[in-house]
Amino acid sequence: MAVGNSLVEDLYNQSKCFSSPIVKNIPNFIKKFTIKELHKLLIRIKDDSLACHRDRIRLYVDNKRKKPFGEKAFLADLPDPNMDLNKWLEGYFDKKDFLLFINYSGSWSNELATLLADFSAPLLEKFSPFSLSLESHIIIGRYKTTPFGVHIDDPNDRVIHFNLSDNEKYLHLWDKEKYRELTGSFEYIENMNDIQEYKTTYTIKKNDAFVLPAAFYHVGESPKISIIFALALTKISKKDLILKIVDEMKDDLIKSISSDIDYAHFEDEEVLKGVLEEEFLTVNKSFNDHFSTSLKKYKAKVKSNRCFVEKPLIIKKEISIELNENTIFTKIKPFNIEFFVINNKIYLYARGHKFSCKEHPSIIKFIEYLKKEDTFLFKELLKIDEVLNHAFVDKLVRWLVSTSAFKLSSGI
Ligand SMILES: [Fe+2]
Repeated sequence: MAVGNSLVEDLYNQSKCFSSPIVKNIPNFIKKFTIKELHKLLIRIKDDSLACHRDRIRLYVDNKRKKPFGEKAFLADLPDPNMDLNKWLEGYFDKKDFLLFINYSGSWSNELATLLADFSAPLLEKFSPFSLSLESHIIIGRYKTTPFGVHIDDPNDRVIHFNLSDNEKYLHLWDKEKYRELTGSFEYIENMNDIQEYKTTYTIKKNDAFVLPAAFYHVGESPKISIIFALALTKISKKDLILKIVDEMKDDLIKSISSDIDYAHFEDEEVLKGVLEEEFLTVNKSFNDHFSTSLKKYKAKVKSNRCFVEKPLIIKKEISIELNENTIFTKIKPFNIEFFVINNKIYLYARGHKFSCKEHPSIIKFIEYLKKEDTFLFKELLKIDEVLNHAFVDKLVRWLVSTSAFKLSSGI
C-alpha cells in the first residue's frame, strides 16, 4: 500500500473531512516533487510549443493576464535548471504581484504522474477506477488575492493544497450560506473587500497539506512567493461516466453518417425528417458494435493511466536511442499496458495513449509478454516469435517508450 495512506483514507472514509477544512502534514512521497522537478516541468512545457495555445498555463501579473504571449515570453526567459528558480522568480517579477497557474501539471512530468499514481493506489483498492479522476495543478506566485476572485470549487472535487515552498500561504474561507447572506447570491465576486471581516483564515505553512471542502467559498493570499501543488480528486458521477463513453463513441458514430444531406433539405421539414430517419437507422445498426468498442477503449485508457483519464502524460517527440540486443527495457511502475482485440483489430493502451494495428497471433503473443514482464533485454523480445517483423517490434517499443510506459537503458 502506498505511503501517505492515512491522508487518503481520511479523505474517503471520514465524511467530516469533506465538511470542515483540515491541515495535515504533507506525506513524504509528495515531497519528492521538489522545486528542481518543478523547474524541469516548466522547461518541458517550454519545449512543448502547443502548451500556450491550450491555455493550460496562465500567467497573471498584477492580477491581469499578460497579453499577448505573456506565458510564451516567460517560458522563453526561464533560466537553466541548475539555477535557483525561486531567486530567479523574485528578480524576474521584481516588486510586481504575479501568479502562474499550470493546469493538469501531471501531463508534463513523469515524476509527478508517478507520484499521483502512488497517491491513488490505496483508493484503487477500494473504489472502481471508473469512479475517480485525479487532476494536479500548480500555483506559483506572490499575490494579495488570487486573480480568480472569491469562488467555490466543483462540489464533486476534493482539493488538497500542498505547500512545497518555504513561505506561508493563506486561504480565506466563507461558509456557503454565510456567503449568500453577505453577497446576496452564490455568484463569485472579484474582490473580498466588502465581506472580509467575516472570513476565516487558514495558514498553509511549509510542508502543510490543506484539505479544502467543496462547501466553502475561498480566495488565496501569498505575501511571499509560494509554490502550491493542488490535487483535485474528483468523484465521477454515473451521468458523467455515461457521457464519457458517448464521447468515446462520437467519432465512430459520425463516420457512419453519410454526410450528403443537401442544404436544401433544411427548407422542408418532412424531407429532412425522412433523410435523418434513414441516417438513424444506419447508425442504429452499428450501435452495438460501436458501443462495445468504445466501452473497451474507455476502460483500457483509464486502467492504463490509473484513473488520470483527462490528460495523460504528453508523448515524447522522438526516441532517438539506438536499440541493440542488450538494450534493457523496464516498465515504469505502477503503470501497466492494457489491450483488447475487436473486429480483427488490436487496441493497445499505454499511459492513456492508444496504438492500434491489424490482429495477428504473433503480435498478441508479443503484447502479452510485454504486459507480463517488468524488465527484459531487446534480444529477448526478438526471440518471442520468429515470424514477428523486426521493424514492427522496433516501432512498437519506441512508441511504448514515448508514452513513458517503459524506459530504456543500455546493457553491458
Ligand atoms: Fe478554488
